[in-house]
Amino acid sequence: MKLTALLIPVLVGTLSTSCLFADQPQTLDSSREALMKEAKEAIGVFAKTLKGELKKAVKEGGLGNAIDVCSKKATPITEQVAKEKGLQIGRISVKNRNPLNAPNEWQKKVLEEFALKHAAGEDLKKMAYAKIVETDGKKQFRFVKAIPTGKLCLKCHGENIDSKVKAKLAELYPDDKAQGFKEGDLRGAFVVTKDLK
Ligand code: HEC
Repeated sequence: MKLTALLIPVLVGTLSTSCLFADQPQTLDSSREALMKEAKEAIGVFAKTLKGELKKAVKEGGLGNAIDVCSKKATPITEQVAKEKGLQIGRISVKNRNPLNAPNEWQKKVLEEFALKHAAGEDLKKMAYAKIVETDGKKQFRFVKAIPTGKLCLKCHGENIDSKVKAKLAELYPDDKAQGFKEGDLRGAFVVTKDLK
């Protein structure tokens, strides 16, 4: 009698702790899943808005007009999406047109990894990186998604850019590194970061 009375709480205690331990990785996984979903959604909205603006601009006023859209609207669109979603979003490339889109140290490593995987035959459309990092006790979620070069992109990022377009790009971006791409090349990546509590 005495023994069972003693054993029950011990047993219950063991069970509940083991359940807790079993639960923990699952909770971490599900929050990671939720963060990835959030990041993918933000990228989806950003990419769709930008591509929509780009197509509209080409239709309305040709490529020259579209360059203005790219240079003036890309940043405000990122800011709007970031505000709506409570995260940071942007585009990076080693061969950047706008020097503000140059990758930082960790982003550079991810892009190098992407380039190696792409060279090894991995599909760019599915290529992504996700990690939660902790620096000085602060946690940050990082998500990077590869951007392939499509046909439309070649008009401003390809090998044979129209001379008028080239002149306009040179005027706006004297240090342009984002030319000479071929269809299917790794153009760069979307980056989402979110500071966690
Ligand atoms: C009408 C010309 C034009 C077209 C078409 C175009 N871009 Fe760009 N792209 C630009 C300009 C201008 C910038 C610089 C934007 C800025 O100042 O932030 C840019 C910047 C970028 C960047 C950010 C990194 C960097 O180089 O600064 C990426 C990534 C990118 N473009 C990918 C694409 C992809 C993918 C396509 C095809 C779906 C595409 N672009 C089509 C003109 C164009």
